[in-house]
Amino acid sequence: MEITTALSKLDQIDVDGIVLGIFGDGSCCPAIESEVLVEFTKIGGFSGKSGEKRLVYNIPGIAAKRIALVGLGNKEELNHEVVRSAAGLGVKLLRDDGAKTVGIASFDGDAELAGPLAEGCILGLYRFEELMTMNPDKRPNLDKLIFCGSNDEANYWDEGVVIAEAQNFARRMGELPANIATPTFFTKETKKKFDGVPNVEIKVYDEAWAKEQKMGAFLSVAAGSDEPAKFMVIEYRGGSDDQKPYAVIGKGITFDTGGISLKGSSGMGAMRGDCSGAAATIGTLLGLAKLKVPINAIGVTPLTENMPSGKATKPSDVVFASNGKSIEIDNTDAEGRLILSDALVYTEKTYDPHMMVDIATLTGAMMVALGEHYVGAFCKSDTIWEALEASGKATAEEFWRMPLDKKYSKQLKSTIADLKNVGGRPAGSITAAMFLSEFVERDNWAHLDIAGVTWPSTEGPYKPKGNVGMPVRALIDMGRKLAS
Ligand code: BES
Ligand code: ZN
Ligand code: ZN
Repeated sequence: MEITTALSKLDQIDVDGIVLGIFGDGSCCPAIESEVLVEFTKIGGFSGKSGEKRLVYNIPGIAAKRIALVGLGNKEELNHEVVRSAAGLGVKLLRDDGAKTVGIASFDGDAELAGPLAEGCILGLYRFEELMTMNPDKRPNLDKLIFCGSNDEANYWDEGVVIAEAQNFARRMGELPANIATPTFFTKETKKKFDGVPNVEIKVYDEAWAKEQKMGAFLSVAAGSDEPAKFMVIEYRGGSDDQKPYAVIGKGITFDTGGISLKGSSGMGAMRGDCSGAAATIGTLLGLAKLKVPINAIGVTPLTENMPSGKATKPSDVVFASNGKSIEIDNTDAEGRLILSDALVYTEKTYDPHMMVDIATLTGAMMVALGEHYVGAFCKSDTIWEALEASGKATAEEFWRMPLDKKYSKQLKSTIADLKNVGGRPAGSITAAMFLSEFVERDNWAHLDIAGVTWPSTEGPYKPKGNVGMPVRALIDMGRKLAS
């Protein structure tokens, strides 16, 4: 799909359909002044409340044949999320009615709102269908999406496009099945995606390198797989040389069978998405680099499958992580924390980051605790929590602070090693976070458990069925706020 901007008026533009926002008081967005339309919405009983949508045709004074009316609610309460959702609903309505070219304009005079408008469109139109060759449900996507507005608005629109495309990349990488999205594929696809993006260097390390680094925890997970593991680092230099980077570390299990502690077969296919933390990490770096945010940032992704085999790690095996700590592997299905432990140690000692955030589909218990709406956030520092909370609210990818308290560490005591990798059933997400905290020295670190939010049960106005690529928007926003 081609995405462009034009200075023309929305009611004059030659397209198959346009999206029009209608406020709760029946007034229309300033992009258009059709008396007929205003009359129509009154007679047609379109109330303009947020979430409402309707297709109308052939309104005099408007060149486009189809018009998707979307409710915006109360004018005073218009915010980024209302705009994002209304835009998503509107473009999907037009596409599903067969429109190939669509025009859209800002819903009110605020140029900034063109950002979430673009996000709503690009995120809303995303579908994962690249592997279908003959599915009858494969409806064609738009050929062209045109934003009509001023240059000032168009700048915000362009930023929104970058952010949404970065998130869509994360969705796709999280969605692709594991026979295609192997660790090697991940690294190649990332390099392709960053091709031509300035100030970025991508380093891909292999298992021999990990052995030199003494990453015994990461390698213990890779041991059972025939697919070579990779350790990928994305370095983005948008700031000055002496600036400490913003580091993002993501769990990249391209498939989680559980290993020797094998999972049940029902629903196991969902574990192709156990690399969603890595996918979100790459998406975040992609967004920051393409937006040319003036900070330094690092993305670190340990990538491997978790498989059972004759070479696989067994419960009660003891391995040594790269900070020297010994770990009794009580359950090979608690593998995310193992690969992250070495990645956290490596990131901290190599880059001395200003701030460190890890993202992982780490525990089923996170789903139980918070369901699908909030990302669980574990951190010691109030500063990082406040940054997460602010960016979460700004982007509608919200975090809920969970305890990170030494009292829970008792559950990780081992009789034969420094610690074991599981802490029993109570507080499963917290003990996982406590395990990770054994591998981080600074306070300015947060662990984000995205197991609950990654695959919501229902489609949203701009969320697909399937992997949603959270929390790429929030983490890009955090990086931008660091810059200012
Ligand atoms: N990848 C899973 C966590 C997960 C489960 C994410 C369901 C999304 C949906 C993780 O590696 C895992 O298996 N965790 C175990 C930990 C347990 C063995 C302590 C879990 O949550 O059951
Ligand atoms: Zn697991
Ligand atoms: Zn896992």
